[in-house]
Amino acid sequence: MISNPSILFGLNAMEELDQWFAKHGSRYSKVIALVDENTMEHCMPEFAGSLENLTDFELLEIEAGESSKSSEILFQLISALQELGADRSSLLINLGGGVVCDLGGFLASTYMRGIHFINIPTSLLAMTDAAHGGKTGVDHNGIKNLMGSFTHPQCTLIWTDFLATLPKKEYENGYAEMLKHGLISDRNLWNSLSQSWINKEEIGPYLEKSIQIKTEIVEADPHELNERKKLNFGHSTAHAIESYFLLKEMEVSHGWAVAAGILVEAELSEMKSRLPFIEKDEIVSRIKALYSFELLKGLKVEDLHPHLLNDKKNRNHALLFVLLSEIGKAVVNVPIDFTEFDLAWKKCFGNV
Ligand SMILES: NC(=O)c1ccc[n+]([C@@H]2O[C@H](COP(=O)([O-])OP(=O)(O)OC[C@H]3O[C@@H](n4cnc5c(N)ncnc54)[C@H](O)[C@@H]3O)[C@@H](O)[C@H]2O)c1
Repeated sequence: MISNPSILFGLNAMEELDQWFAKHGSRYSKVIALVDENTMEHCMPEFAGSLENLTDFELLEIEAGESSKSSEILFQLISALQELGADRSSLLINLGGGVVCDLGGFLASTYMRGIHFINIPTSLLAMTDAAHGGKTGVDHNGIKNLMGSFTHPQCTLIWTDFLATLPKKEYENGYAEMLKHGLISDRNLWNSLSQSWINKEEIGPYLEKSIQIKTEIVEADPHELNERKKLNFGHSTAHAIESYFLLKEMEVSHGWAVAAGILVEAELSEMKSRLPFIEKDEIVSRIKALYSFELLKGLKVEDLHPHLLNDKKNRNHALLFVLLSEIGKAVVNVPIDFTEFDLAWKKCFGNV
């Protein structure tokens, strides 16, 4: 069902990756795997033990968490690649969540003007979103993804067995991006996912649908000129929340911030893009039943304003949001002012 042949998905996916190495492995002078401390412990043994045609590779390990997705760690990794003797025919394997995929993808796209890489997402968020679509990057000066590139991996392996060790909280965070895919493009997917949690063992078909939605949108508009902006529903608010906490040196999950962003941007959709009240109400009540937003209660909405202005979708200092006109349909480039944003925020979290 996933139309992109470079995405290996399903029961035979690991075997297909092994065949990929049998066919292409000899092209590479050196193979290096990037992991974080958790994926080293929980995912590397299964990965390394499953591939007959990948016998020899070096390891680079980073600390887990968003703070590793930084320019400082990027430069450390460039030095580490150099010390390992990596050249332009080296291959990087990113085995981890969205942090490893974003950082590793950017590292691969810049090292010696670009080396090949493979994404092996291990969190639900990375499986459904971060590992696809070619966006790579790191945070800098407290701004999310300030540096980055559009670069595609040679292939992406989706191996849902890795989810077995993913903490529940992280699973729920990743689930928010799947909910978003339903909201912007497929009412049935939204309906199935939003009424109650679907557990890890049963997530496969929904994940496949979610990846297909992202893949189709990216293929229609690889460089985000128009259609692809739809994937940013919930994200103008989410990135502002994440940047706010990043500056306070507090880590919040991207997926959780997206869930909060969906709430605020559903309110804005009712105000600005004719999302019917009944559908807005459905979104708000279901998201609030799934996620808790206690952490946002003490936040002053004006403190988000400077972060909202940093959003890459803005033009000429005007805030441009992606909103919904109905569940399953998104509209892009909707101008929003701070008064409207503050009102939507207040409706969701009650504090301005
Ligand atoms: N490039 C894109 O298009 C895109 C899209 C969405 C999000 N992102 C980025 O993705 C990042 C968030 O990704 P994330 O939520 O995966 O965060 P993450 O990579 O920090 O992973 C979350 C936590 O789960 C752990 N983990 C991952 N897989 C595991 C497993 N199988 N077993 C046990 N522990 C595991 C990690 O070590 C980490 O502690 C953010 O930086 C966000 O900006 C990028």
